[in-house]
Amino acid sequence: MNIFRSTRLLLLSFLLSSVSSKPFPGNELIRQATTFTNPILWEDYPDLDVFRVGDVFYYSSSTFAFSPGAPVLKSYDLVNWTPVSHSVPTLNFGSKYNLNSATDRAYVKGIWASSLRHRPSNDMFYWIGCVESSKTYIWTAPNSGASQNGGEVGNWNWTAGETLNKCYYDCGLLVDDDDTMYVAYGNTKIMVSQLSKDGLSEVKSQQVYVPSDNTYIEGSRMYKINGTYYIFVTKPASAEWVLKSKSPWGPYESKVLVDSIPGPLPNAGYSHQGGVVDTKDGKWYYVAFMDSYPGGRIPVAAPLTWTTDGWPQLVKDGNAWGKTYPMPVQTDKKVPAPVGTDSLTGSSLSHEWEWNHNPDNTKWRLAGGSGGLVLQTATVTNDLFTARNTLTHRIIGPKSLGTFRIDVSQMKDGDRAGAALFRDIAAYIGVYKDASSAKVVMVNSLSLNSNWATNATGTVAATGPTLDASAKEVWLQVRTDITPAFSGTSVKRTTTFWYSTDGSKFTQLGSAFAMTNSYTFFTGYRYAVFNHATKALGGQVTVKSFNMELT
Ligand SMILES: *[C@@H]1O[C@H](CO)[C@@H](O)[C@H](O)[C@H]1NC(C)=O
Ligand SMILES: *[C@@H]1O[C@H](CO)[C@@H](O)[C@H](O)[C@H]1NC(C)=O
Ligand SMILES: *[C@@H]1O[C@H](CO)[C@@H](O)[C@H](O)[C@H]1NC(C)=O
Repeated sequence: MNIFRSTRLLLLSFLLSSVSSKPFPGNELIRQATTFTNPILWEDYPDLDVFRVGDVFYYSSSTFAFSPGAPVLKSYDLVNWTPVSHSVPTLNFGSKYNLNSATDRAYVKGIWASSLRHRPSNDMFYWIGCVESSKTYIWTAPNSGASQNGGEVGNWNWTAGETLNKCYYDCGLLVDDDDTMYVAYGNTKIMVSQLSKDGLSEVKSQQVYVPSDNTYIEGSRMYKINGTYYIFVTKPASAEWVLKSKSPWGPYESKVLVDSIPGPLPNAGYSHQGGVVDTKDGKWYYVAFMDSYPGGRIPVAAPLTWTTDGWPQLVKDGNAWGKTYPMPVQTDKKVPAPVGTDSLTGSSLSHEWEWNHNPDNTKWRLAGGSGGLVLQTATVTNDLFTARNTLTHRIIGPKSLGTFRIDVSQMKDGDRAGAALFRDIAAYIGVYKDASSAKVVMVNSLSLNSNWATNATGTVAATGPTLDASAKEVWLQVRTDITPAFSGTSVKRTTTFWYSTDGSKFTQLGSAFAMTNSYTFFTGYRYAVFNHATKALGGQVTVKSFNMELT
């Protein structure tokens, strides 16, 4: 982290600390910056597809079994992003996405690399993605005038479209100048399909490219630039190739855009599997992601130039992906900062939040005003990975804390509620209600095995105070460090768990928890709040606020 960015973030946290609810005022410091620092957003937003409508950049990302899925982020400068919608409001891929039981769940399935684009002719957004390597799902949203309104969407109303009985694996959508829609997809054998006029079925499909040495490639992103068709593909997890042709059907020539170039962060993976986008004034950028476990996969950007014969070239810093580059766009338009306090006062959850699998909507509600988020117990289980209605929030890196303020006065005998560091190897600080006593506990050793079945439901590693019978609220805090410690290093990043009964004096409970750096769960660690029963339903907690700050 350079001095510029840390100063910026410190000042930002200071500015934001006095603000109690979203949206936040002023990112003046960000806005006036003349350079940006990679990563552009230190949060887990992998498999990105970026594009621009008018003044607004959009970014779609994959979310596996988190719900709602496929977040849409927006930016005015390609550097400061905020989530504004989810293309898949409910995971409509089968009942296991409702987290039915210990054996009927969808961990690591769901939304993988998928694609979102805007179609000018009818002013609609189309999201398309293959699920479980079998079917392809399409969701659309009319744009309420984004084309007329400088690219700004009024509201998003996503509707499930057709389901194709065919997998467009790692697909990238292109809406051509003549309004024809194409999808590039596949692994090693790169395919192109042409869609019907309504964009909801296939009219033609053809293999367009196979590497001569059968190198494994995937992650297609398709563009038409200056009359030429491009498909960007990745060689996981180190390189990006560019395929180029005068026709969508090929033949395609290929060149390497990047291959194993040092990245902007130590101990992280190579920047790869990205897409390209231009600014209104014609500057081009490649936006990719970097494996940064335990935090997940985080976006980085770099400018592109073009050779006279139409091949893109990354603007490097020496032989490396730059840490800083000039800001792509200078603008007065800003988006809310990713840190601060969410007082959960609105009529819907902000798009920062995603449930673990589809929630049981009869068991949660926003109370309105300062009432907070009511989480009734939704499952009787001793397994957090099987409990419904765990609500997750991406962790901002490199080091941050997440604090949930929770009213625990209506927990019932046997209920377990708390603040988790959620992933396949997890830990939490929580409140155990047994008979009439509510005890603060730190629990570790919760895990899924390599088939994503629960193989450990957790061990109470430390016991804190028993809360006063009159105490209503407790603050549960997770302090973490997701600085990359990627494979090849034995360094483990750690997380500590803290509680407070007054919201100001925090006490650590238990010892530091060592996070896994493995990539195989794909999603990085998240902050999460949960409430489940072990005896009978009927209890509830109310989450009064969530605060995330850089530390
Ligand atoms: C959302 O779309 C659905 C289906 O197209 C339509 O029935 C509904 O009226 C729309 N809702 C809003 C608020 O526009
Ligand atoms: C597109 O063509 C114009 C005119 O030849 C040229 O100035 C521009 O650099 C080209 N852009 C790209 C991305 O190749
Ligand atoms: C559970 O599975 C994980 C992943 O394979 C493994 O690391 C862990 O040791 C297992 N734990 C138990 C208690 O079997």
